[in-house]
Amino acid sequence: MRLSKLQKSYSKNTNYNQNINAMSTKTKKTSSKEGTETKKRILSCIQPTGDIHLGNYFGAVQNWVKLQEDYQCFYGVVDYHAMTMPYKAKELHDRTLNLSIDLIACGVDVNNLFIQSLIPEHTELTWILSNFTSYGELSRMTQFKDKSQQLGDTDKDAFVSAGLFSYPVLQAADILIYKAQLVPVGKDQEQHLELSRNIAVRFNKRLKTRYFYPPKPLFTEIKKLLSLADPTKKMSKSLGEKHYIAMLEPEKSIRKKIRSAVTDTGDGDGTEMSAGVKNLFELMKASGAVEAHKHYLELYNNGNRRYGDLKNAVADAVVNLTNDVQNRKTVLEANREEVIEQIYASSANVRKVAQQTLMEVREIAGLPKLKY
Ligand code: TYM
Repeated sequence: MRLSKLQKSYSKNTNYNQNINAMSTKTKKTSSKEGTETKKRILSCIQPTGDIHLGNYFGAVQNWVKLQEDYQCFYGVVDYHAMTMPYKAKELHDRTLNLSIDLIACGVDVNNLFIQSLIPEHTELTWILSNFTSYGELSRMTQFKDKSQQLGDTDKDAFVSAGLFSYPVLQAADILIYKAQLVPVGKDQEQHLELSRNIAVRFNKRLKTRYFYPPKPLFTEIKKLLSLADPTKKMSKSLGEKHYIAMLEPEKSIRKKIRSAVTDTGDGDGTEMSAGVKNLFELMKASGAVEAHKHYLELYNNGNRRYGDLKNAVADAVVNLTNDVQNRKTVLEANREEVIEQIYASSANVRKVAQQTLMEVREIAGLPKLKY
């Protein structure tokens, strides 16, 4: 079945229609990327290190989708970033394409999507910006400390790459190359964003220009979704299976994980709501079950702290959402080759914006003119 014919079967879903419509009118829409757009620019990225999970979705991607209405958006699947930890080449390739398709299934417009390594200008800008970043700044990045520690925990002679160390400069390049003003991310990226701002300001100051705009983070209501199995930690793939719920996980498994979420003893002694219970309420609200959220919050405030029903309602809300995404993914997979072609076409369009920036930056930085 052709993509255009699939519109009818999903006519109720606006996001999906946006994507499919966008696919069929790609030339017209994508040309605006380098054209006369006056809307503010948004950029955000995600690493293809595994399945997209609820933390990624509620912390960032849900916002990406909403922002597409009012901003000029650039959303990247950052495969260069995913090379900074040990990885397998074949897996990286497949994950990059799969994640790109998953993002479209979540509602990201294919015309806003790019694969980072299809735009090698990101790495050239990284080199230039490295010279405006200090060793000390990079050494203070908590994500570098956490990840190198994580490697050290599995093997005391573990290889910690220079790529992992300079990763935040690549992140700054991702943002600055599109002159993005706002960056929708989860709380864990706040420090990297602050560094990106510092790099932009230092570049401007040292080269006596006002070229780069210091980008600001944009957080969702759920800045940090916690692991259901251990609400002292953020939901993350690196902690293992039980610590995250993937958007494409089977319903049975999603329900099981929510049923076994850590809450509290339910004594109702008037103390502050526990992190685990708060996490469940947030998850329910963000999944769109506003009425149910109100109802269970009222029960909770009236001293009803039996969490079985609450968990079932949270699971219903989450499954409702993930089912939609899963259905759209099935449709996209049936047209996989065509969708991949669109992702390549969109990346080529986005690349023109990046090349324009590089041309300007090279000149400001004193490098000879390069013809593309
Ligand atoms: P990554 O791939 O780890 O995560 C993608 C997005 O998901 C958010 N996120 C969460 N939000 C709330 N709760 C959670 N438990 C949770 N887990 C993940 C992240 O904050 C992120 O917004 N370095 C980035 C990718 C990147 C990037 C960029 C982001 C590369 N270049 C430029 C913004 C701009 C990363 O590893 O995200």
